[in-house]
Amino acid sequence: MLNKLKIWKTQNAPSTLRDRIDFVKSSGVPAHIAIIMDGNGRWAKKRAMPRVAGHHEGMKVVRRITRLANELGIGALTLYAFSTENWKRPKNEVDYLMQLPEEFLGSFLPELVKENVRVQMIGYKEKLPPHTLKAINRAIEDTKENTGLVLNFALNYGSRAEIIDAVKHVLKDCQSGILNANSLDEEAFSSYLMTSKMADPDLLIRTSGEIRLSNFMLWQLAYTEFWFTNVLWPDFGEEDFLEAVEAYQNRQRRFGGLEGS
Ligand code: FPP
Repeated sequence: MLNKLKIWKTQNAPSTLRDRIDFVKSSGVPAHIAIIMDGNGRWAKKRAMPRVAGHHEGMKVVRRITRLANELGIGALTLYAFSTENWKRPKNEVDYLMQLPEEFLGSFLPELVKENVRVQMIGYKEKLPPHTLKAINRAIEDTKENTGLVLNFALNYGSRAEIIDAVKHVLKDCQSGILNANSLDEEAFSSYLMTSKMADPDLLIRTSGEIRLSNFMLWQLAYTEFWFTNVLWPDFGEEDFLEAVEAYQNRQRRFGGLEGS
């Protein structure tokens, strides 16, 4: 029956962007989408432009996808904006990437405040330049009362480091008697991660044709649906995002169980 309904839905799929948005909204959207925004450099190279031009174009896409995610009623959008490994890139590129949150939030924050979006961050704040941190902290503060979409930037984030830090914290709490080792289960361990207050992603999108996780949310993605596209992040549009959500809506999630169980 469910399959017949899906076939019917596919055959009668709406065609305009507006119709697609309305249709997707009525079909149950993922609560949390995580995105590995990849391909900025290649996008720029194809146009004989400097790599940073790709990052700048990528920032504009963040704006458009945030608006759409908010409109669709998605609970959280986690964006991998800078990994703990990205410091290995040339200084001019790192400096540029570290300036993007300021530029983005400098112009977009009033709209985020107004549109009920709450800005959050996961990652190691200590190593961020003061100007980057200031922009992020201000956005977190100014949007803290908002109850709509959580726009979660993964900035200077690395999943293995996050897990090791969580393990160290667990050991410390066991030693000091705050935690009984026998009571440590998956839920308790999750509370030691940077995403402690968030549900795990339902859908992971990675652009640019790369099929890997690149040290992103390794624990949190255990049961997440993956969706990969060859589209480079700066070319990633509303249609692509909808396609990913539509694909998600046609998946059967079983969490290790059997269909319908
Ligand atoms: C990976 O593409 C992308 C990044 C390391 C940076 C992503 C950042 C943005 C999209 C802008 C973020 C915006 C805000 C507001 C923080 P790549 O450079 O590795 O691409 P390549 O694989 O083609 O070289």
